[in-house]
Parts: sequence; structure tokens; C-alpha cells
Amino acid sequence: MTKQSLSGQDHDMSTSHELVEVGDGIEPTGDIQVGRARPIPRISIQAFCEDPQFTQVLQVAAEDRRLTKAHVSVHMGGASAAVAHYQESPTPNLIIIESSLPRAALIGELDKLAESCDAGTKVVIIGHLNDVILYRELLKRGVSEYLVAPVSPLQLMESLSNLYNNPEADPVGHVFAFIGAKGGVGSSTICHNTAWTLSEALKGNVIVADLDLAFGTTGLDFNQDPVQGIAEALASPERLDEVLLDRLLTKCSERLSIFAAPVILDRDYDISADACDMVIDVVRQNVPFVAIDMPHAWTSWSKRILTQADEVVITAVPDLANLRNAKNMVDFLRASRKNDSKPHLLINMTGVPKRPEISIKEFEQALDLKVLGEIKFDSETFGQASNNGQMIEEINAKSEAAATFRDIALAITHRRETRVEKKVSALAGLAPLLEKFKFKR
Ligand SMILES: Nc1ncnc2c1ncn2[C@@H]1O[C@H](COP(=O)(O)OP(=O)(O)OP(=O)(O)O)[C@@H](O)[C@H]1O
Ligand SMILES: [Mg+2]
Repeated sequence: MTKQSLSGQDHDMSTSHELVEVGDGIEPTGDIQVGRARPIPRISIQAFCEDPQFTQVLQVAAEDRRLTKAHVSVHMGGASAAVAHYQESPTPNLIIIESSLPRAALIGELDKLAESCDAGTKVVIIGHLNDVILYRELLKRGVSEYLVAPVSPLQLMESLSNLYNNPEADPVGHVFAFIGAKGGVGSSTICHNTAWTLSEALKGNVIVADLDLAFGTTGLDFNQDPVQGIAEALASPERLDEVLLDRLLTKCSERLSIFAAPVILDRDYDISADACDMVIDVVRQNVPFVAIDMPHAWTSWSKRILTQADEVVITAVPDLANLRNAKNMVDFLRASRKNDSKPHLLINMTGVPKRPEISIKEFEQALDLKVLGEIKFDSETFGQASNNGQMIEEINAKSEAAATFRDIALAITHRRETRVEKKVSALAGLAPLLEKFKFKR
């Protein structure tokens, strides 16, 4: 979603029922049939309402089986409350605004909202006006759906389902691939901490997929011991659907699940690039953010993932072999991803006493790339985190490394710094109504 429009794609109005013009107005036609709505993926939905009746509709929908994976929170205050809220907070995957404002006032509020909307956020409006001019204005601004109240829970769910299950629509999830320029440079640690920050600070739903099948550390780092995981999916990718995916994932926190590696050595792990593609496609249909923890390997499937990912994060330590490998990787990615953003480069484990180092500046010059962040060598904090199965922010939230993980999370999701810090004052007037929805699962 751009700052100018209210949705990732302008004209993304995938209405579930035909809208016909009646004089000055528009009317939904066709019966809503029970069961047409498909399950809605693990997205976060925030609603801003004026009418208590609509909050009841939301409550019924939020408790429906089709929304069990989504996080729904409801606030009162309508469009103006949404505008105030998102000046201080990141926007979720979907914003629902129920408003009885007249046309010009509603459009005015939406234009203000557009200024603080993050990429990928969709907006659905529930209005009280059967007004075709308003409808067209909303379309122009990239609103995904306009429904005229009163709306039934099924009608609402069907509209939401169409937004996320339309095969022509963009897949929900963004894929971030994390790889080390050499083995043991801290790429997995950075992947896991960034994913955790994404789920905690940015309130995004994340799946960490561990593709280091023989030696992966995702289970250890999140203090989990999963029985099944990603190897089962890769062995028969055609069987993977949202039901099987749910069984194979291990839930670590409200918003973070891991797709763990088996880490047993009595099998061979010859993955095919096509199997990887199929598995990642299913995962990204079900969650907004997928962080792939890649082993330090260069195979047909690892190249495919790096080429296809939305963002690539390379971790290097400041020595010559890392500089050479990082340069080779960046050159490969530049050539194979001509229209994509550049890979992100992190220099990890700097400042080891008495060890000669290649400077950040030299990295930047050699790779023609701005380094996203530097993480100092800190054996105490990192050692404690990895031995306890904890994240750096849990051990020391004020550490420089924790701030760097937030920077990485913001960079790969293309968000602005100030939006992470939620200022309570801005929320005070909103009176979150149905807090219990937030923690349904
Ligand atoms: N900045 C740091 N300071 C000190 N120790 C660190 C730092 N970053 C990572 N480590 C430690 O380095 C070790 C290796 O990290 P990690 O497993 O994340 O590397 P990797 O690049 O994923 O390795 P592999 O090639 O095995 O996948 C871990 O014990 C981790 O705690
Ligand atoms: Mg690793």
C-alpha cells in the first residue's frame, strides 16, 4: 500500500456481490449463501466502528471458525479514531472502518488515513450511504471493499474471504530470506530475532521456516522441541494445504510460529527447488510474513529461494572471506533480481578484541551497498540467549543489538521508525472495546 492510496493495488475492489446503480445509489444484489466464505489467513484486522450493532456483527464474525487464525481487535470512534490511531502505530493487514459520515467528510478522513497507511494494508469501509459517487471515490483511493450497512456476519466474512482467497489477488505473505556469507556468522540468530521483533513490536504474524534441515537451530532458539515440521511438507509438497500446515507448525507465541527442521541425521536431505517453491507458496498464502532461515549452502533450491524472496538479508562478519562471499552473493542477486530492492547487508560480531577487521566503509565500497546495521560481538548476551532459548530483546531490551533487529524488521517491511513506538496517549480516547478478540487463540 502506498501513502497515496488506501490499498496495495488501486482498484482492488473485489466485491462479493454485484453492485448496480439505482438512481444516485448502489445496491448489493444476489443472495449471500452460507458457506461461501473460505477461511481467512493469519492476518491482523483492526476495526473502528461507530454503531454498537456493527461491533456485534464483528464479534460474531471474529468468533467464527473461518476467522480463528486472524487477530481481530475492535475500537470505537469510527474513521477519525482510525486516523488518530495510525499516526502513532503501524497499520495492520486489514482495517475495517464503519462510518456514518457524509461523503465529503468520510473521504477527507480517508485521505488523512492514506498518509499513514503502510504497504500492503487493505481497507474495507462499511458505510450507511447507498451512494455511487462515494463508491467511485473510494475505488479511486484504493479501498478494497465498500459495503452498505446493515451488513450480516456472513456477508462480512464473505467479503473478507474474497479479499484474501481470490486467486488473482496478491498472495498475503512477504518472504524474507536470511543467509550468511559464511557458516556460523550469526545469520540464524539475526533471522530469529528479527522475526520475533516483527511479531512483537510490529504485531505481525510471522512463520520462521528453517531450511537448515540437518543442523537448524530454530527449535533451540525458540525453546521448542517439535516432532514434525518442514521436512514432512517438503517430502510431499502437493499434500500441503492450510490444514496440514497448521499441524506441522509449532506455535511459539501469539503471533510467531516455526516450521522447524527435523535435525536428525539418518535421512538424506535432497530438496528440490520445485518442492521448496510449492511449500513456500502455501505458507505465504497463510501468513503476512515468512522468515526463511537458510543454511550457508549454494544449491539449485537455495538460489531459487534467494531469487524469489521479497527481501534478502545477508549477514557477514568483518573478514576477507566474508567480504568476498558477500560480494559474490550481492552480484548474483543484482543480476537475477534486476527490478527488486537491493539485498540488505549486516555486519555481525564486530569489535572482537585484537582481531583485525575490515571496516564497514570498505564493505560498502566493495559491494556498492549501504550496510543496514552493525552488531557488536557480545558473547555474554548472545551466549545467554542461545543457551536459554530466548531472544536478545528478552535478555536486554535496551541493547544496541535489539535496536538493530528493530531496524531490520522496519527495513524489510518498508516501515518507518516512529511507527513502532506506540504512544498510549493517542490511544487513550479510543477505548478499545472488545479486547478479548485480540487473544482468541
Ligand atoms: N553478535 C554476536 N556476538 C556474539 N555471538 C554471536 C553474535 N551473533 C551470533 N552469535 C552466536 O554465534 C553462533 C552462531 O550463530 P548462528 O547459528 O546464528 O549462525 P549461522 O550463520 O546461522 O550459522 P550456520 O552456518 O551454522 O547456519 C551462535 O552461538 C550465536 O549465539
Ligand atoms: Mg544458521
